[in-house]
Amino acid sequence: MRLALLGCGTVGQEVVRLLHEQSADLAARIGAPLEIAGIAVRRLGRDRGDLPVDEDLFTTDALGLIKRDDVDVVIEVVGGIEPARSWLVEALRAGKSVVTANKALLAEDGVALHEAAAEGGGDLYYEASVAGAIPLLRPLRESLHGDRINRVTGIVNGTTNFILSAMDATGAGFAEALEEATELGYAEADPTADVEGFDAAAKAAILASLAFHTRVGAADVHREGITEVTAADMASAQAMGCTIKLLCIAARGVDPAGRETVSVRVHPAMIPRSHPLASVGDAFNAVFVEADAAGQLMFYGRGAGGAPTASAVLGDVVAVSRNRLAGVRAASESAYAALAVRPMGEALTRYHVSLDVADRPGVLAAVAGVFARHHVSIATVRQGSAGGAPGRDGDAELVIVTHVAPDAALAATVVELRGLDIVRSVTSVLRVEGGA
Ligand SMILES: NC(=O)c1ccc[n+]([C@@H]2O[C@H](COP(=O)([O-])OP(=O)(O)OC[C@H]3O[C@@H](n4cnc5c(N)ncnc54)[C@H](OP(=O)(O)O)[C@@H]3O)[C@@H](O)[C@H]2O)c1
Repeated sequence: MRLALLGCGTVGQEVVRLLHEQSADLAARIGAPLEIAGIAVRRLGRDRGDLPVDEDLFTTDALGLIKRDDVDVVIEVVGGIEPARSWLVEALRAGKSVVTANKALLAEDGVALHEAAAEGGGDLYYEASVAGAIPLLRPLRESLHGDRINRVTGIVNGTTNFILSAMDATGAGFAEALEEATELGYAEADPTADVEGFDAAAKAAILASLAFHTRVGAADVHREGITEVTAADMASAQAMGCTIKLLCIAARGVDPAGRETVSVRVHPAMIPRSHPLASVGDAFNAVFVEADAAGQLMFYGRGAGGAPTASAVLGDVVAVSRNRLAGVRAASESAYAALAVRPMGEALTRYHVSLDVADRPGVLAAVAGVFARHHVSIATVRQGSAGGAPGRDGDAELVIVTHVAPDAALAATVVELRGLDIVRSVTSVLRVEGGA
């Protein structure tokens, strides 16, 4: 089985190492040896340590490598949309099998890849694109195909989980925790893709597509990052027995016309400490799946890093190689359900709202009236400065937790609260998930 490796950076180098270290076992498991036909990179002279591979295998001509007749499987660990998309479409149309870790490309234009795979008859596997080493996509696309998945809730970005875990443990603000994450190598020099939720949104799209047999792209995902989460928000969460996590949530629902829908969103949310995802600390990932018959399932492990990601890549290489030797291909994309993606405004959520209000009679009634006008039912009201910034003289802090309501109604409530004279400021607005 001849492999073309596109990219030899953090993940690619570990793929090369694992292929070398495990070559005998891999050959035995597949029924044929795996051989690297070539490695495409951008800079030939770059120092890649002492990789156990012949220098002559390196090339800057990725397309030429893909087109070679002696290449069976193309492994793409370059990243980005182009030229990766053109390369993989070319490889798949030519009947090669493709293994990729490229979540951005799958979320942006997975359709083009799936169509090219169907045309060429090869396999398209991408286990490493979501949650690194954690076996998650194979369970969704195979093991759970006899069941009906209702909801997928995940922590799928290690950088933001590290930052929020640090804020929870030390009381640090976002900027301070980001600095620590950068120093320790958990955040990139430009952390935008992680802290603004783009990376998690791409993964949410991939998970939702597989869980609900529906094409969901990055543009369908409501996305909010963690840059606005403050130390005061975390303190408020702690006062309620909760913590704050950046969650990716993909859920079935029913729209007002009675049609089945999906909603897919990424945003910070308070979850109770008793929730299984609350104890997922540092840069770890975890995904919680709720299915009709299987009930609740939790997948946990390292979501990134060269070796963990290479483990998932190699697992896919074994699977596609076996298929090629057997002359079969895995089931193609399953998008038959074609559920409509529901706008965020219709998603049902709960809110935790902290207000700094004038401390005088009638304030509570006025605030409650705003919630009532938007048909948002209040679950609890607490007064005091617990967890939040102490109010100014003559002010009081109100902490309100709502029942489930459409997100748009909750957002409109907050807008109106901000306009009230008696509301000095809305100090914290957070969605609440998981029964807090
Ligand atoms: N790192 C992780 O923990 C992780 C986890 C899960 C998924 N992934 C995904 O895995 C993929 C690779 O990530 P990575 O961290 O390994 O990236 P990386 O360290 O930046 O490596 C990228 C590799 O691609 C090569 N490359 C870039 N542009 C190229 C071009 N135009 N032609 C040929 N080669 C080119 C680079 O060549 P040079 O070496 O010559 O610069 C480098 O070898 C991405 O899709 C990423 O999202 C990464």
